[in-house]
Amino acid sequence: MATLLTVSVGLPKDVDWRGRTVYTGVWKQPVDGPVMLRRLNLDGDGQGDLGGHGGEQRAVLVYQQDSYRYWAQVLGRDDLMPGQFGENFTVDGLPDDEVCIGDRYRVGEAVVEVTQPRVTCYRVGLRMNEPRMAALMVAHHRPGFYLRVLTEGLVRAGDGIVKLSTGPEAMTVAELDALLYLPGHSRDDAARALRIPALSPGWQASMQGLLDQADEQEGNAGLETAAAPPAWAGFRPLTVTALDEETRDVFSLHLAAADGTPLPSALPGQFLTLRLPGEAGPLVRSYSLSGTPGDAVYRISVKQEPHGAAGTYLRANARPGLTVEAAAPRGSFTLDSGEQPVLLLSAGIGATPVMAMLHALAATQPDRPVWWVHGARDGAEHAFAAESRELLRRLPHAHTHICYSRPGPEDRDYTTAGRITPEVLRGLNLPPDTAAYLCGPTEFMGEITTALGELGLGPGQVHSELFGAQGGLTPGIAAAPAAPPHPPDGPPGPGPAVSFVRSGLTVPWSPSYASLLEFAEACDVPVRWSCRTGVCHTCVSGLLSGQVAYSPEPVEEPGEGNLLICCSEPTSELALDL
Ligand SMILES: Cc1cc2nc3c(=O)[nH]c(=O)nc-3n(C[C@H](O)[C@H](O)[C@H](O)COP(=O)(O)OP(=O)(O)OC[C@H]3O[C@@H](n4cnc5c(N)ncnc54)[C@H](O)[C@@H]3O)c2cc1C
Ligand code: FES
Repeated sequence: MATLLTVSVGLPKDVDWRGRTVYTGVWKQPVDGPVMLRRLNLDGDGQGDLGGHGGEQRAVLVYQQDSYRYWAQVLGRDDLMPGQFGENFTVDGLPDDEVCIGDRYRVGEAVVEVTQPRVTCYRVGLRMNEPRMAALMVAHHRPGFYLRVLTEGLVRAGDGIVKLSTGPEAMTVAELDALLYLPGHSRDDAARALRIPALSPGWQASMQGLLDQADEQEGNAGLETAAAPPAWAGFRPLTVTALDEETRDVFSLHLAAADGTPLPSALPGQFLTLRLPGEAGPLVRSYSLSGTPGDAVYRISVKQEPHGAAGTYLRANARPGLTVEAAAPRGSFTLDSGEQPVLLLSAGIGATPVMAMLHALAATQPDRPVWWVHGARDGAEHAFAAESRELLRRLPHAHTHICYSRPGPEDRDYTTAGRITPEVLRGLNLPPDTAAYLCGPTEFMGEITTALGELGLGPGQVHSELFGAQGGLTPGIAAAPAAPPHPPDGPPGPGPAVSFVRSGLTVPWSPSYASLLEFAEACDVPVRWSCRTGVCHTCVSGLLSGQVAYSPEPVEEPGEGNLLICCSEPTSELALDL
């Protein structure tokens, strides 16, 4: 019989880490005597970041004494103490390759159920003073696991652990962990995992991603958003074939292959990245495709911002015959091909990706119910007014609502004066299964997302595109005021140029940084990460052009056209979708 050797608890506290403050509960201390195990926690225990740890599905973390012995040998450590891996229960027995998801056990007075392997995160490395720890635990098939509490009760060190039942499908913790993180994901096994009701919802979503992954799709669809590989690597020349004036400060460019062959089709909502000559080095900027997906040529529509470098360059130089360098269309803000109603909502130049979606609907799904909601200042700044009207005429189940914030005396073609507000959205009477696609200024999108949530649209129904850097994800790090992206402190590095395209920053790489992630952080470029050692794919980013070397090698490489910034450095000039 397995035995509970140690019960450890600890409340979150602030810990210094590389000049930042991490709020974490990974420091646990053994307790003598009985401890009450409740649905969310042991008494006296807590987690700092409930997004990644804790909660009903992850109330208790279990790690095995056998793994302590293993790591002591592999890492040459003689200082490992119970609770060191952040676990609550240190146990004798219950190995990861025998315990199954859904197994039920009685421990003391409590009854518990296994819900998922431990999630890899940098904090175990922080606690162990071994930054590779998250990756090692996966690669060596020793993750440990989480329990849900079915019956609350007292537990204490020395309690026997009695198995009550085996989870359906008898899928072990080690098997499931390898299925998600290691290469060679079997669809049959993902389907098996989905038949285990005890599996936590987060892992169920990952398993669904693996099950839905197309055969030809590279990368890990359990950890990354699925996207087709880019149609070409790096930048290729495209020729401007025509120019359209849309409004006073918005113009469209038609771009064709230099040899006249049809360009690979893009998905409705994707964007193109251009590399243009600039006074202080190349200007790398992204523009959503605004024309009909599948056309032999691409159309982008550019708003010339006052003092905007790329907009000004294109305004001055774009004419038929100009060659520009372009990276392949990419992006996961794309129209789904389902049957449910669609809300296409935009403000100002944010109309571009949803125009491509409107073209796609008119061409291929004319019977789909569509709500077209757009906000502009007035008729003179209303881009694509005639084009969208014509497309909407071809959609018999379309509804239109145009808001002009400052309509002029001559303006007639709008529905309401003012901005797009929650009241406007309420008045649309959207069906509850509507899929919403939003594009506009950041603050506006935040308000609209909240308002759609209040109307009952879940997060999975609301998709948005930002014309700038996306929000960062820095688990457990205390919030600090966000500084705009800037070159790193100190003299410029001697390495190749790295363009953080969404942030509009190009800076030379310096080998004094351990990874592109650390380099981006030094530039205050918003980044997303969790394990920082090549396992979780949270840091996956678009590699628009260039090559990188990995160190350490990631547990599994990301899909083509992407990179993991936490464990890579440039070996050539880079353009990153960050
Ligand atoms: C996925 C994606 C899709 C996009 N799609 C589109 C699209 O379809 N159409 C489009 O037009 N844009 C789009 N963008 C935005 C585009 O990439 C550029 O960021 C934007 O056009 C500004 O680029 P710029 O070089 O002209 O301006 P920048 O030189 O980068 O300037 C940025 C801002 O700073 C201001 N600024 C710069 N210098 C000064 C100064 N000296 N004084 C005061 N203010 C200053 C500018 O007015 C501008 O508002 C998209 C971005 C992304 C990430
Ligand atoms: S942060 Fe986990 S793979 Fe990069």
